[in-house]
Amino acid sequence: MIIVETDRLTLRNWRNEDRDLFREINRDEKVMAFFPFRRSHVECDLLFNRNRDMIAETGLGFYALADRGTDEAMGFCGLAPVELPGILPEGSVEIGWRLATRFWGKGYVTEAAKKLIEHALLTLGLAEVYAFAVHDNKRSIAVMRRVGMDYLDGQDFDHPKVPDTHPALKRHVLYRITTIFPEIRKTRND
Ligand SMILES: CC(C)(COP(=O)(O)OP(=O)(O)OC[C@H]1O[C@@H](n2cnc3c(N)ncnc32)[C@H](O)[C@@H]1OP(=O)(O)O)[C@@H](O)C(=O)NCCC(=O)NCCS
Repeated sequence: MIIVETDRLTLRNWRNEDRDLFREINRDEKVMAFFPFRRSHVECDLLFNRNRDMIAETGLGFYALADRGTDEAMGFCGLAPVELPGILPEGSVEIGWRLATRFWGKGYVTEAAKKLIEHALLTLGLAEVYAFAVHDNKRSIAVMRRVGMDYLDGQDFDHPKVPDTHPALKRHVLYRITTIFPEIRKTRND
C-alpha cells in the first residue's frame, strides 16, 4: 500500500522485512535522544503491528519511508491522529518522523514531509497539520521550518506523557501548517 511517492522516496505501509529497521530506529540512543522511553524487541514488534494495522485500516499512521529505487526502509514519516487535550483541538493530526542515523543529512525527511503535507491538506482535505518537538531538538525543528510550518508563539507546552523524571524532555514547541501555498501564508502573516 503506497501512500505517496517523491523523486527519491516511497511512503508506504510496513512489511515484515522492515522489522529490523523499525527496531533499530526505536532503540538507537542517538535517534531516541529526545524520548524518555526505550522499547524492548517485543514492544517494538507490537508497536510495528499496531502501526501497520492502523495504516491499513485508516490510511493514517507513521508510514515506512523507503528508498524509491531499492524499496529499503530507512525510517518513518507519517500523519497520525494525536490526542493532547487542552493543547491541541480534538481530532488533530500530527506529522512525525524518525530516521536511522546513516540516512540523516540527505534531505529525505524534508522531501517526504513536504509531500505528506500536500497529501494531508489537498487530498485528505485536512484543515491543518501539527508538529511538536522537545525545544532542544534542533534537527526536528529545522525540518518543521524547512517544510513551511509556522511556530505557534506562546503555545509551548509540557508534554503530559513525559514523566517528571525527565525534566529536560518535557518542554515542547508547537508548529502548524494550514496551507502549502506561499502567497496565502504571506497574506496571513502581513
Ligand atoms: C529529525 C530527523 C528525522 C531529521 O533528519 P535530517 O537528516 O536532519 O533531516 P532531512 O532528512 O530533512 O535532511 C536535512 C539535512 O540534509 C541536508 N540535505 C542534503 N541534501 C538535501 C536535499 N536534497 N534537500 C534538503 N536537504 C538536504 C540538509 O542541508 C540538512 O543538513 P544539515 O543537518 O547539515 O543542516 C532526524 O534527526 C531523526 O531521526 N532524529 C531522531 C528522531 C526524532 O527526534 N524525531 C522527531 C521527534 S519530534
